[in-house]
Amino acid sequence: MSEHKRNSDNRVEQSLALYDRAGQLIPGWTQLISRRASQFAYGNSPIYAQRAKGSRFIDIDENEYLDWVNAVGAIILGHADDVVDAAVIEQIGRSSLYTLNSPLEIELAELLNEVIPSSEMVRYTKSGGEANALAVRIARGTTGRDIVLFTGYHGWHDWYQSANYLVDPASGEYPFAGIEPIGVPQALAGTALPFVYGDLQMLQMLLEQHAGKVAAIMMEPLRSEMPPPGYLEGVKQLAEMHGAILIFDEVSCGWRMNIGGAQAETGVIPDMTVLAKAMSNGYPMGAVVGSRAAMEPAKNMFISSSYWSDNLGLVATLTTIRELQRRNSAQQFDAIGEALRTTLNQSIADAGLSGACTGLSYTPAISLDLPDETLRPKVTTLFIQEMARRGVHTYMGFKATLAHSAGDIALTGRITTEALQVVKRALDSGDIDHYLESDLKQEPFRRLVK
Ligand SMILES: Cc1ncc(COP(=O)(O)O)c(C=O)c1O
Repeated sequence: MSEHKRNSDNRVEQSLALYDRAGQLIPGWTQLISRRASQFAYGNSPIYAQRAKGSRFIDIDENEYLDWVNAVGAIILGHADDVVDAAVIEQIGRSSLYTLNSPLEIELAELLNEVIPSSEMVRYTKSGGEANALAVRIARGTTGRDIVLFTGYHGWHDWYQSANYLVDPASGEYPFAGIEPIGVPQALAGTALPFVYGDLQMLQMLLEQHAGKVAAIMMEPLRSEMPPPGYLEGVKQLAEMHGAILIFDEVSCGWRMNIGGAQAETGVIPDMTVLAKAMSNGYPMGAVVGSRAAMEPAKNMFISSSYWSDNLGLVATLTTIRELQRRNSAQQFDAIGEALRTTLNQSIADAGLSGACTGLSYTPAISLDLPDETLRPKVTTLFIQEMARRGVHTYMGFKATLAHSAGDIALTGRITTEALQVVKRALDSGDIDHYLESDLKQEPFRRLVK
């Protein structure tokens, strides 16, 4: 048994025991930092699942949860979607990986060209971080330049993590607090430079300071709010002026708000786009798409991997995109987001708290007004704890799927009210610790784009 705080009813006993074993076997416990127990209410939140369907999953202690995390956004149609899974199972019968190339590669490239405005040529990967690394390789190869200016989160690879050599690791403040570049070659320091999202002047200054050396501007075009008016247009103009390739990382903002991504929503079309996560509803897949001018030189670069032709990711992606089209996903997510905001704002009011559920429809989040900012980590953990105890797995933010029904939203509203009533009692008592039976949720790193 570990020394962590635990709920006395042993609701997640098997999860906690397995996590202790993982600590001995897997450095860092999990494969994705966002799946660490420390990201939720450690002691009450489930850590290991055994099956999932639609909007729900069952943990290894046999508890059922309504899921608002959805594999950090990778699940978009719902867990184990019948249509996608049937297509994958049918493909398994014909082999997941051929000796030869798969015609599905061409079929998917044509579909991506149809739905993603910036897409004329396409390369595939198996994850978002990998696709970002590939995009940077192509941009550097195409321009013959080394420096990448970036804002946002772009994965674990050296090109990106080297940016943290620019900060004092003791303060951990800039650019992404919480990550140290351990194991990243120091020789890469100065090759990836962060800029502050929304600050065009800073971007211009960096471009001028490194004139003729900037290969790419890599950015998440948005996360939970629309960009300031004119901002993305300004970035595109600067990129053009300085001969840098503009890359949108749409790994998190793509698909839910619009099948064509943030670029279709804002009308600002980058040179290249990075895609992954939700595009394949839970099957490993990533892609880099872009203009012919930006992408074609990649034919002379060494970019090659065995499983990038895997049929299952290809067929899952083709089917997911067609299902998003068939189910009118953008309108559905707008409706779900609107219903969530209304319901959760009512819960905040019913619990007697001040705050709001806001944010774009595809990712609304609760923000509470607190008497003292230092209370926030405890309040967040207590909220996640009380939701988990009542069978809802969530952060303060909610990532819906098309499987989330009006009934799921109503249930979430009732449970949120109860959880927030506990938060209110804890705040009124002046002793939140008394209500916390979980370790404090840790923030893994700052993402730079809100
Ligand atoms: C914007 C963005 N880029 C890249 C990644 C990395 O993707 P993956 O975890 O599939 O490597 C993420 C993951 O959260 C992301 O949100």
